Amino acid sequence: MLNALQNIKEQAVLALAQVSDPKVLDELRVKYLGKKGELTAILKQMGKLSAEERPKVGAFANEVRASIEQLIEQKAVSIKTAMQAKKLEQEKLDVTLPGTAAPIGKAHPLNKVLDEIKEIFLGMGFSIAEGPEVELDYYNFEALNIPKNHPARDTQDTFYISDNVVLRTQTSPVQVRVMENQKPPIRIISPGRVYRSDAVDATHSPLFHQIEGLVVDKGITMADLKGTLEMFVKRLYGEESVVRFRPHHFPFTEPSAELDVQCFACKGEGCRLCKGEGWIELLGCGMVHPKVLSICGIDPEEYSGFAFGLGLERTVMRRYNIDDLRLFYENDVRFLDQF
Ligand code: DAH
Repeated sequence: MLNALQNIKEQAVLALAQVSDPKVLDELRVKYLGKKGELTAILKQMGKLSAEERPKVGAFANEVRASIEQLIEQKAVSIKTAMQAKKLEQEKLDVTLPGTAAPIGKAHPLNKVLDEIKEIFLGMGFSIAEGPEVELDYYNFEALNIPKNHPARDTQDTFYISDNVVLRTQTSPVQVRVMENQKPPIRIISPGRVYRSDAVDATHSPLFHQIEGLVVDKGITMADLKGTLEMFVKRLYGEESVVRFRPHHFPFTEPSAELDVQCFACKGEGCRLCKGEGWIELLGCGMVHPKVLSICGIDPEEYSGFAFGLGLERTVMRRYNIDDLRLFYENDVRFLDQF
């Protein structure tokens, strides 16, 4: 019987040495130590032994059981460790691999330049005013000294909501709204959408953006207008920019002018960008017409002011050398991504 026990022990040692599967390990446990296992089978025969042999066999049987139990225990631990290691190996994460970049949006070129323009004027003490896009004819035309039959209405043909209500053709009506509500000194810019019933082409759109400017105070002169606008152009297009003021006519300013900047490409020689002119038109401006001041309840004997208006699209096109205005509204990321 001692031999049989020794056999079981040796078999078990051999078998256990080869196990790597927890299921097989469990089967072996049952096979050797279970109620119907080999060791139990032998112990059941103990009754046949002599009183002399019984304690020896019993002690050895316990020893065999204990050592098999211990082996199984050890094996269970090593199988578990090996399985964990394998799992970790399989789930390995390489933190040095390049990730998938999430596409990040950017400011639209129109907003980007508008933000720069706002910054420039805020830096000069201006604040930002807003007005409605659906506007009364009175503010869009009448109060700006453009009566019903005035030819200026032709070039600013708009969308009429009703006889008295239009989509504003310019940001100039904000001037009137501000002057009606605010005592001088006034220093505002007013960016926003404007509408004209123009057909879409490379330089026209029924919707575009303007930025209006207005300064009203005691003793404001043409020198203030020139100094302010020249500084604005240099901030926006660079210190080396050269500007000129050219006489013009607007119904709501007197005198009126257009501000040109010397062509960046040819420095005044004349090229494709400036259409051979050497100069590029930037904005309209002038001294606020005394009639407009009066209409808004500001005494033109006491106060004077200057105003200006520029088209945002044109300004951005010049800035980035964009030759088709439609690109701004098509929202093609291949275009928008370049700024
Ligand atoms: N509102 C004019 C336009 O759309 C631009 C303009 C010219 C605005 C002269 C002004 C100004 O404030 O003084 O053509």
